[in-house]
Amino acid sequence: MNSRTYLLILAVSLAGALAAHTAHAAGDASVGQLLYQAKCAACHSIQYNGVGPAHLGVVGRKAGSAEAYTYSAALNKSDIVWNEKLLDAWLRNPEKLVPGQKMGLSIPSAHERADLIAYLKTMKADH
Ligand code: HEC
Repeated sequence: MNSRTYLLILAVSLAGALAAHTAHAAGDASVGQLLYQAKCAACHSIQYNGVGPAHLGVVGRKAGSAEAYTYSAALNKSDIVWNEKLLDAWLRNPEKLVPGQKMGLSIPSAHERADLIAYLKTMKADH
């Protein structure tokens, strides 16, 4: 194989790997729904406050703003507006993102976080 052919093959396989990675980074909402039921539903629901606040419309919402839920002072006074990046940081290590918060759970797997966030994104407040 000459070096040009080699480079071409390399470029094509890199593009494939990147496409696969991007697809994954976007997360799978249906897997996220199952993960939500397994790992979040003990404390959260989409519609109602429980141990944790309701999640309807959480993506794009200001942190600490679910109606009638009593947040920690730390989350209440944070300037966070939840987007994918901040939700990822929260789920990876809530205490690192907002010291003094009161959610006692973290999700070490980046795959699972991406799937969970994809699911939360489908739970919009306006429908
Ligand atoms: C053991 C109970 C518990 C579990 C399990 C739990 N949470 Fe929480 N969560 C909380 C509590 C309590 C808060 C409020 C934190 C505060 O006020 O500092 C919270 C807050 C949040 C917030 C901030 C919401 C807002 O309105 O600002 C998000 C987002 C969140 N949780 C996502 C999740 C996801 C996704 C899962 C599952 C992977 C999960 N939580 C699992 C208890 C839990």
